[in-house]
Amino acid sequence: MARKTTAKKRHSTKQTAKSSKPWGGRFTEATSSLVEEFTASIPYDWRLYPYDIAGSMAHAMMLAKQRIISERESRRIISGLREILKEIATGKMQFQLELEDIHMNIESRLIRKIGPVGGKLHTARSRNDQVALDIRMYLRDEIVEIRRLLRELQRTIVDLAERNQDTVMPGYTHLQRAQPVLFGHHLLAYYEMFERDRERLTDCFKRVNILPLGAGALAGTVLPIDRKLVAELLRFDGIAENSMDAVSDRDFAVEFLSACAQIMVHVSRLAEEMVLWSSSEFGFITISDAFTTGSSIMPQKKNPDVAELSRGKTGRVFGNLTALLTLLKGLPLAYNRDMQEDKEPLFDSADTVTSTLSVMSAMLGGITVHRDTMRHAAEDGFITATDLADYLVRKGLPFRQAHEVVGTAVLRALEKGCGLKELSLSEYRELSKLIGKDVYQAISVEASVNRRTSAGGTAPANLKKRLAVLKKALKK
Ligand code: ARG
Repeated sequence: MARKTTAKKRHSTKQTAKSSKPWGGRFTEATSSLVEEFTASIPYDWRLYPYDIAGSMAHAMMLAKQRIISERESRRIISGLREILKEIATGKMQFQLELEDIHMNIESRLIRKIGPVGGKLHTARSRNDQVALDIRMYLRDEIVEIRRLLRELQRTIVDLAERNQDTVMPGYTHLQRAQPVLFGHHLLAYYEMFERDRERLTDCFKRVNILPLGAGALAGTVLPIDRKLVAELLRFDGIAENSMDAVSDRDFAVEFLSACAQIMVHVSRLAEEMVLWSSSEFGFITISDAFTTGSSIMPQKKNPDVAELSRGKTGRVFGNLTALLTLLKGLPLAYNRDMQEDKEPLFDSADTVTSTLSVMSAMLGGITVHRDTMRHAAEDGFITATDLADYLVRKGLPFRQAHEVVGTAVLRALEKGCGLKELSLSEYRELSKLIGKDVYQAISVEASVNRRTSAGGTAPANLKKRLAVLKKALKK
């Protein structure tokens, strides 16, 4: 960011010069440069400029419509703002630290550009309602973008699940092999998580999309403004009903940060599985070279850094939520300068979530699935123990007794150093007379998966149906 800090030295210690600030009227001394450094938000809030300018344009239009300023004045203000938009977008605008924030930088540039008439823009407005407006407009865009990226990730997941429809893998609990599942079924669990994340954002959007502008500093204004018109111009669904709430509430931002944190919980779990699956111990997948990095000392290494960093970045996104909650706690109404500290956590979470989702999608789309290794792991000797118990249940034995019988069978097999499949029929019949030679089919991995046809279960028929539904949903 280009910054001009010439005022710094001038104002450093003993100041007698009158303040040169837009708010300088009642001040007889200039601000200490220490204070300027300490209170400025322009180093990071400059990025709100497109929203600040769009909000100001709508405000100026409304002021003219309400005859608070003339049509001519409004037009001059709007064309000045349009030029400033271009200046900032092309990097030509010099931001000034002593002007604190993006709002005063733009306003002061406007006055320098079009003269004192520029000073009419801030009629019936305060930076307090202005900044609340800017953040809400910024968050609207971020929500739309994050929802889009979640969609993209869901598309990648469905695609991968479809390409690997009959790949079987061990399902885990406690990271111990539990029951065989389809790899596609495992993947679609993430689809559902990301779907709820999208819903959370949609819900959050409703509360973000309420216009705070017109609240003034805190109490409203004596001028005949039309807030509904501004809401329409800026495509807000409604206006904040209480001026004090409008300028002091940030719960919509907390909700956004919370939705981001939840997204990262899901991302980090997927990332962790990718780390595990790509290890030599699992060997279930290979992450493409383009999405891995090497070691500076161990030539053989190919590390899943992208997945690890995705997992790691979860921490800062949680931190941002905690930071904002802590910031807001116990603040008296209405606006307090503390609230300026809301921006960096918001920007950081939005940036982190968008970059993480983009890279995760791209990485996941390019993995190689080692179906034979997965399948082999799913053939683990005891993984269909539950199926053996269910077999006995189908023959009429109460489940608790069946559980006991199978437990003993597992023990026998462990003593013999074999799996359940390798126990002989006579060994089985010693344990229960209900067991016949159809038991071997019943405890095969195929049967285990194929039989899990209960709604939401891992059966291939279920996966096929669900994939068809999701592919249709993704077309919308
Ligand atoms: N930069 C300030 C913020 O982000 C704008 C509002 C300043 N208002 C005030 N009364 N000083 O919160």
